[in-house]
Amino acid sequence: MKKILIAHDGSKSSDKALRKAFELAGKFGSSVTVISVIPELYLTELMDIDRARILETLTGETTRTMEKIKASVKDVRTVRTMIRQGNPASEILDAAKKMKADLIITGSQGRHGAEKFLLGSVSSKLVDYAECSVLVVK
Ligand SMILES: Nc1ncnc2c1ncn2[C@@H]1O[C@H](COP(=O)(O)OP(=O)(O)O)[C@@H](O)[C@H]1O
Ligand SMILES: [Mg+2]
Repeated sequence: MKKILIAHDGSKSSDKALRKAFELAGKFGSSVTVISVIPELYLTELMDIDRARILETLTGETTRTMEKIKASVKDVRTVRTMIRQGNPASEILDAAKKMKADLIITGSQGRHGAEKFLLGSVSSKLVDYAECSVLVVK
């Protein structure tokens, strides 16, 4: 298990996934890549200037979160962070393929998880379509 990809969206659930990932990476000597995808803004009625501002805020927030994660890591050899924009599941699957990840680790719920017992839409797409193994942390 050389390469682990972690999907992080800033949710509590993905923080939990992150902790599990670092625990495993420490044990197996794996390298870790943390990916966060800034979702497309589908609000067509938004003016371009507002869209740009929202995107800027989200990018800043995500960059800070990624920096914090990098600073907090111990016992793991290599940690890379990656910020993408677009459809979260597609971007994560694409990154996993390109880096030839051995394992994707994801939280079970997102930032606005509706039902506690349901798997989120992003994590369920990862389970369905990934070519490598997926660990859903509960
Ligand atoms: N935009 C994203 N970027 C990276 N990972 C994500 C993103 N959205 C969701 N994930 C991953 O998927 C997990 C489940 O979230 P999600 O499927 O979006 O649930 P929900 O439908 O409850 O929002 C999160 O804990 C996180 O690990
Ligand atoms: Mg979500």
